[in-house]
Amino acid sequence: MSNKALRNLFAFGSLGFFVIFVILTIDTMGKLDKRAPEITEEVNLGKKVWHKYDCIGCHTILGNGSYFAPDMTKISEKKPKEYLKQFLMDPKSVNPKASMPKFGITSQEADHLIAFLEWISKVDTNGWPPKPLLAQAVAVTGAELSPGQRLYQQLNCSACHMLNGIGGTTGPDLTHVGSRRDRTWILGHFKDPKAYVPNSAMPSYGHLSEKELNELTDFMISLK
Ligand code: HEC
Ligand code: HEC
Repeated sequence: MSNKALRNLFAFGSLGFFVIFVILTIDTMGKLDKRAPEITEEVNLGKKVWHKYDCIGCHTILGNGSYFAPDMTKISEKKPKEYLKQFLMDPKSVNPKASMPKFGITSQEADHLIAFLEWISKVDTNGWPPKPLLAQAVAVTGAELSPGQRLYQQLNCSACHMLNGIGGTTGPDLTHVGSRRDRTWILGHFKDPKAYVPNSAMPSYGHLSEKELNELTDFMISLK
């Protein structure tokens, strides 16, 4: 190849790849915008509250922070708003064994924090953080599930409750709940938890059909 041909190859090659680089950059920038929803004033205020109490000193979010406490990236997909609000304002009122301190977060600050956490949970993180392996393991054991067990999984009760060592710890361990509570109590509690446990942070399942509630209750009773 002559010197001239080499120079042309270099010049047009560089130019060609530069154009491809620009096109890919524009493409990526266009997609980035869609990866996160719009930031509202509430979300902004919530982020300030998040900093004020140094939540990241114990929790991780989007891969940053400490590993002392659960990851917060997708928390508002897992837990209902009312529950989060009560927990943020007074963790021990939800779970007497909670080790998160009561910071004196006001009702308004809690609303802002929840708006911030909801925004974060909508950010497309390509599946981060991964779902706990143990929780998945239950789903693939292949054993025949009773209707109540299936509902327990579908409704994601294990986000808050531990069963045979698997699940969340913010609600009571249900491994032996059938020897603590009777049918009437459990059924009534599903429909209106606050009528049975004052200030209960458990969501009501009154929207389920009577049949489903009975199936769930059968399952609970069987846990002796
Ligand atoms: C001193 C450490 C610490 C700090 C600071 C802290 N947390 Fe926590 N947090 C915990 C621990 C530990 C848990 C797990 C439950 C428990 O034992 O209390 C928790 C649980 C939670 C939960 C409930 C999780 C669930 O699945 O039920 C939420 C929501 C939460 N924290 C949000 C926050 C926010 C928002 C802040 C900042 C205002 C914050 N935390 C600051 C330690 C902390
Ligand atoms: C967002 C968290 C959360 C979810 C989700 C949740 N619970 Fe609870 N649950 C709690 C809390 C907190 C308590 C303790 C307060 C109370 O008893 O109402 C509780 C209490 C209970 C109790 C009474 C336990 C006892 O020993 O007194 C039962 C039974 C129960 N839950 C079953 C379930 C089932 C079944 C599901 C799924 C359909 C479920 N829970 C979903 C938080 C939750």
